[in-house]
Amino acid sequence: MNPLAERFPGLSTLPFVPLVDAPTEVHELSRLSAMTGVSCWVKREDKASPRYGGNKVRKLEWLMGDAREKHADVLVTTGAIGSNHVLATAIHGIKAGFGVHALLSPQPMTRHVEENLRADLAVGATLMPIRASVLAPLAMRHHAATLERKGFRPYVIPHGGSSPIGILGYVNAGLELAAQIERGEVPEPDVIVVALGSGGTASGLAIGLAAAGIPTPIHAVRATPAVVANKIALGQEIRRTVRLLRDREPAFPEVTTAALSRITIETSLYGDGYGTPHPEAARAKELAAADGIQTDPTYTARSFAYLVRLAEERRFRRPLYLATLSSADLGHLLRAAPMPARWATSPRSWLRRR
Ligand SMILES: Cc1ncc(COP(=O)(O)O)c(C=O)c1O
Repeated sequence: MNPLAERFPGLSTLPFVPLVDAPTEVHELSRLSAMTGVSCWVKREDKASPRYGGNKVRKLEWLMGDAREKHADVLVTTGAIGSNHVLATAIHGIKAGFGVHALLSPQPMTRHVEENLRADLAVGATLMPIRASVLAPLAMRHHAATLERKGFRPYVIPHGGSSPIGILGYVNAGLELAAQIERGEVPEPDVIVVALGSGGTASGLAIGLAAAGIPTPIHAVRATPAVVANKIALGQEIRRTVRLLRDREPAFPEVTTAALSRITIETSLYGDGYGTPHPEAARAKELAAADGIQTDPTYTARSFAYLVRLAEERRFRRPLYLATLSSADLGHLLRAAPMPARWATSPRSWLRRR
């Protein structure tokens, strides 16, 4: 049973594939707390699965459940070349018997990006280039139609897994955190810090906490451009997810306004844009590592840097950080990984490709 189905029995018929070692651990970040004098906590979403953890696994529990119910055999998704979402879908989707096809858009090459790309190939994902992320929705529809003509049954997962079905993963996590607070495993935080990509993590968490009556505000630290994640888009995600929940279970509370109003988008760490290194990231990476938390340059070095700032400025007394990057060791995959195609590593050949 998952917390959503436990609290709202009408939702127990929603298809679900268990992937997460739940509940994920909560503990104090002892080094950062000692350094700043502020009691900083973490929820270890990074350990959601030993195969590959992080925030995307929670969304895949519901997305893969829906795909199975619809008798799909190929998951079609998208992301930048180093996308953690694409890698999570490849690892868990292929293990569950789906084919995984991903349409990838360019991003600045870093070691993390290259490793994710090679791990995608090592598990057997089919990768295809697109010129820009804005083309992804159309390109996915086109690719799915081609697969259908060949006799496959594709299931399309949007950028970041943030459809209303995927967002249920973080409604569930919000309810899980509320239960941990109720059991006294973590003090009620006075702010939650999370990286903002497609927005599903912040939106779902806000819905889950609002449904459980926990008033904590959420500061979502921008890692993607404003056209991708903004208050209007978050509002739509929340509205559509709450509608899905209430259509299935009328006892689920109408929390659309309460959920949206608790999210603040923090833009000050976006810097030069998606995937670019931020000047505060190097220090954040070291401080996170001292507390045993791994970060990536695109998302979590930014969100951890913001946590450090909040603690140093003493703006909150009990911040809680959501560690959303998988900490699973990919060494075994990378040792056997083929080299990425030239279109992926060389921007010039990428542009020539289509
Ligand atoms: C490590 C990490 N943290 C946070 C996020 C943001 O999550 P969301 O897309 O749900 O906003 C992502 C998105 O790809 C991610 O890879």
